[in-house]
Amino acid sequence: MKVLVIGSGGREHAIAAKISESPRLEKLYAAPGSDGMSSIAECIPYKVTDVTSIVDFAVKEKIDMVFIGPEVPLLLGMADALLEKGIMVLGPRKDAAELEGSKAFSKGIMKKYGIPTGAYEVFTESQDALAYLETVSYPTVIKADGLAAGKGVIIAENKEEAQSAVRSMMDDRVFGDSGAQIVIEEFLEGEELSLLGFTDGKTIIPMVPSQDHKRIFDHDMGPNTGGMGAYAPAPIGSSTVMEDAMEKVMKPLIAAMAKEGKPYCGVLYAGLMVTDQGIKVLEFNARFGDPETQAVLPLLDSDIITITEAINRGTLAQTEIKWKDKSAACVVMAAKGYPGSPVKGDIIHGLEDEVGGTFVFHAGTVKKDGIFYTNGGRVLGVTALSDDLKNAIDLAYQRVGKISFEGCQFRKDIGAKAFK
Ligand code: AMP
Ligand code: GLY
Repeated sequence: MKVLVIGSGGREHAIAAKISESPRLEKLYAAPGSDGMSSIAECIPYKVTDVTSIVDFAVKEKIDMVFIGPEVPLLLGMADALLEKGIMVLGPRKDAAELEGSKAFSKGIMKKYGIPTGAYEVFTESQDALAYLETVSYPTVIKADGLAAGKGVIIAENKEEAQSAVRSMMDDRVFGDSGAQIVIEEFLEGEELSLLGFTDGKTIIPMVPSQDHKRIFDHDMGPNTGGMGAYAPAPIGSSTVMEDAMEKVMKPLIAAMAKEGKPYCGVLYAGLMVTDQGIKVLEFNARFGDPETQAVLPLLDSDIITITEAINRGTLAQTEIKWKDKSAACVVMAAKGYPGSPVKGDIIHGLEDEVGGTFVFHAGTVKKDGIFYTNGGRVLGVTALSDDLKNAIDLAYQRVGKISFEGCQFRKDIGAKAFK
């Protein structure tokens, strides 16, 4: 099979690495891909938003299957356009990707179908939102409705912070039209869990539970980032929690989307809060999580091409998906200045210094004259696979210790919550 991966981050590198293990793979492409991925995929210089060029390329090169990494092309209808040409895709159609594209849509589905989530209200006028802030308890959560590159959620500790978030989203439009509508949501306390599932619109099969580390500093301090590390399987995803997540969230959601005439196929990501009152959904994403995927996919023991074929044929119920009896940890190495304004162009030392059981996914790097330089906020995802989680974490940090670049930031407590 000829396969194309859309995207250029650590997540896409991890997806490409899994695809390249498939005996069914004939040739792998990535658009735009990255210098780090170029040893396993031929990189085609199209932006992920250039749906027309990518679809034309896929038709011309007779690509059989396309894995869409990021959310933006999904919301531009890339899956729809490829499916129309008879090309298999991993990623939902535009109307189903609205689960991630609009928080009001996603909350509305959850409310209508009784899927557990925090209480909320939707606003399209800032004065109504500001009036509502007089009635809520704090902290409270203000969310821009549309995509905001992971920055559209503000946990407001008090009324003043909440007012300023509402004004900057709705009046100043700091997230553009994504803030034309906002959701104000009850603050939920608990431990977060990322649960991803493969689904063909009728059946959903969970991946191993994982946990992200959103804040930049150790002990969950400092501003939110795209994610500073992940590990899997996460013990917070106990068998009871997983059963609840499947029976109360994942299966009902897939049934709801089918009933709404927007069948959801691809990878569904549920961001869950495990609270004293049971699990509640924080958000749905229409794709693999990043960095979760860098820890989850190395544990997949089945052929991802065969799984994706079953998703496209609607035969997932008859497909067995196996996982390695191992654990994985991924430590993100980020650039100086991240998550604000990351510094680019520093030499990355020590990439060639290997540690058994570890591998490095490239996120923000560029290669010039044989040397890798930093080229983004999250630079590398250093991942290790081992028989137990503690060992995987140790190995990942051994490898991290061999890599260096100016101002490098990484968390030293990835996976520590698993041992609480
Ligand atoms: P989201 O993009 O909706 O997942 O939000 C990003 C992050 O904000 C989540 O991973 C949580 O850490 C936090 N968050 C979102 N909604 C809530 C909530 N209702 N209560 C507490 N924290 C939340
Ligand atoms: N790790 C969070 C996300 O992928 O949205």
